[in-house]
Amino acid sequence: MASHTILELKEKINSFPKKDLIPLPTPLRKLKNLSQDLEGPEIFIKRDDLTGLAFGGNKSRKLEFIIQDVLDKKADVVITWASVQSNWCLQTSAAARKFGIEPIMLLFKTYELTEEYDGNLLLDYILDADIRIKEIEDRKIMRVKDIQEIIEEVINEVKEKGHTPYVAPIGGSMVDGSMEKPLGAISYVNAFAEMLEQMGEDSEVNYVIHASGSGGTQAGLAAGAKASKDNAKVLGISVSDEKEPYRDEVFNIAQDTVKALGLDFSMEREDIIVFDEYIKEGYGVVNREVSDAIRLLAVREGIFLDPVYTGKAMTALIDLVKKGYFKKEDKIVYFHTGGTAALFPNKYRLVDFLKP
Ligand SMILES: Cc1ncc(COP(=O)(O)O)c(C=O)c1O
Repeated sequence: MASHTILELKEKINSFPKKDLIPLPTPLRKLKNLSQDLEGPEIFIKRDDLTGLAFGGNKSRKLEFIIQDVLDKKADVVITWASVQSNWCLQTSAAARKFGIEPIMLLFKTYELTEEYDGNLLLDYILDADIRIKEIEDRKIMRVKDIQEIIEEVINEVKEKGHTPYVAPIGGSMVDGSMEKPLGAISYVNAFAEMLEQMGEDSEVNYVIHASGSGGTQAGLAAGAKASKDNAKVLGISVSDEKEPYRDEVFNIAQDTVKALGLDFSMEREDIIVFDEYIKEGYGVVNREVSDAIRLLAVREGIFLDPVYTGKAMTALIDLVKKGYFKKEDKIVYFHTGGTAALFPNKYRLVDFLKP
């Protein structure tokens, strides 16, 4: 079994330069009331929603490294893409603005949601991001090649104006576009090391659970888990893609991460654990279980989750506890990865489920 100390891991991560964008570490707290209510294992929460950049979230950890890469490549325009209410696009716009880089956001209508200026779209607008809303037939937008023509058109337009574009891959996860190393995932190896440090060397973490979308968060956490001595299992709750082939996508990013960091082991496919049964009606579709989970965390812990990502991961956690997936003595860390601005454009569906 691989075993790097936290210090070794941090040294390897520190060999990648990054911009100081957010205050770290993010808080780690016990969810005392929730643990009690569920009469199950001890549940902790890692507050990556409190990263402090544009309403916070997992993407700002990734962007510390990615913005550095944009600047190193002397680019002055960052082009990226995702769905209309994307947390990634919001965080990228905010980070870019802070460093004087122009953000161009290609926002695809991958699911039914109004285009009104609400939630992240409102915040993108306030940031004066160059917002381009696009229709798409095939809803697959994971890689540059899926939207090749559109991206090339924007690259040419930027170059014709005498600027230098940087194409950041969706979610800052895969090695794609202008990003040659899995910088997003590397930031999540760091998050894992940070969490272990906060738990204390003697306090074993058995499971980490979080929402998984473009794969970088899970790849980084899984690589971090494998690198450290207690070998925690990382449970990625897919919000959009079926388990296969999503697991392969995450596995590939994790392998790239292990290589980029020069760690002394390889990832195995079995290290990537994905649950896809909580996607239910589809990406971004709010359901009763998610609404109930959001209310439970709000009422019992004073913490808001979002309906697209973190609410689904919490629904999974609650369900798995109820099904007896964990042992009572297990320690579980739930990563709150942000995205709470999505509560607002989903208000009608949420209220419908929550009203008596
Ligand atoms: C709030 C939130 N949680 C989790 C995720 C998933 O992270 P990743 O894309 O690294 O899998 C995302 C990605 O969009 C997100 O916005």
